[in-house]
Amino acid sequence: MIQFNECSFRYQGGSHNALDGISLTIEDGAFVGVTGASGAGKSTLTYAVNGLIPHHFSGDFYGSVLVNGLDTVEVKPEELSRFVGEVFQDIDSQMVSSVVEDEILFGMENFGVPHEEIGRRLQQTLSLLGIEELRRRQINSLSGGQKQKVAIAAILAMRPDVILLDEPTGELDPESSVMIFELLKTLNREFHKTVVVVEQKIMLLCSYVDRIILMENGHIAFDGPTAAVAGEADLFRAQGINIPRVTELGEKLTGMGLYHGALPLTLDGGEKMVREVLADA
Ligand SMILES: Nc1ncnc2c1ncn2[C@@H]1O[C@H](COP(=O)(O)OP(=O)(O)OP(=O)(O)O)[C@@H](O)[C@H]1O
Ligand SMILES: [Mg+2]
Repeated sequence: MIQFNECSFRYQGGSHNALDGISLTIEDGAFVGVTGASGAGKSTLTYAVNGLIPHHFSGDFYGSVLVNGLDTVEVKPEELSRFVGEVFQDIDSQMVSSVVEDEILFGMENFGVPHEEIGRRLQQTLSLLGIEELRRRQINSLSGGQKQKVAIAAILAMRPDVILLDEPTGELDPESSVMIFELLKTLNREFHKTVVVVEQKIMLLCSYVDRIILMENGHIAFDGPTAAVAGEADLFRAQGINIPRVTELGEKLTGMGLYHGALPLTLDGGEKMVREVLADA
């Protein structure tokens, strides 16, 4: 479980709080999306979970963050990394090796995973992500989606309970973006990982995650089940997050008195809405 208690953080030399009085709880097994405008504090929120704040970034830190009951101020990021792994926004700077399997081995070796276990985990992780054939490839020859999978594999090999991903689809085309979210869904549903994903593509979030947090200037502007997003569309628009087109269509049809149901957030929901409207016509 991750618990923020009235947490605020101001980077050294910063003119405002990057996190401003955040209180929230993320239960084990949750699948949560974090969105918001650039500079809202999304990456900073993830750093407060993995302990980079306050241990790596200096600044003023108030309140507390507990991960599996451990206070992030009291334990080192290395210790937290037993529970929490993050795929950072800039994966190129995260990758330390030039060959795929070395990248996955690196973390495990550093982490003190027993030697006889390492080979087994490498194999398991490659197969879980369906990237066995990439094993000996040069990382700089991979596509964006493949690279993202390797970064996820390197984290998963360390078997964290919680996986944080900071804009994993930022550089990906729509097809690869869906592939990554399908993978996250498998990790959450079948492998019971707690998944927290920072993402600007609201349609993707609405199609996959169970809960959405909208950040605005370091605080939480919305936090609720994904289904509740449609009713708060203006809050999201105010932060420059375009709500799904199907939701907008739903608003229009509702405004015209043609539709009276819940506003859809996904393509499936949109199709159901259109069928209902046509059946009534
Ligand atoms: N290392 C740093 N030193 C000083 N200020 C920082 C640092 N990193 C981020 N900030 C500031 O903290 C605030 C939150 O930044 P953060 O990177 O968490 O936002 P974000 O929501 O992840 O944005 P983006 O969508 O662009 O990635 C911003 O005002 C940013 O300028
Ligand atoms: Mg960011």
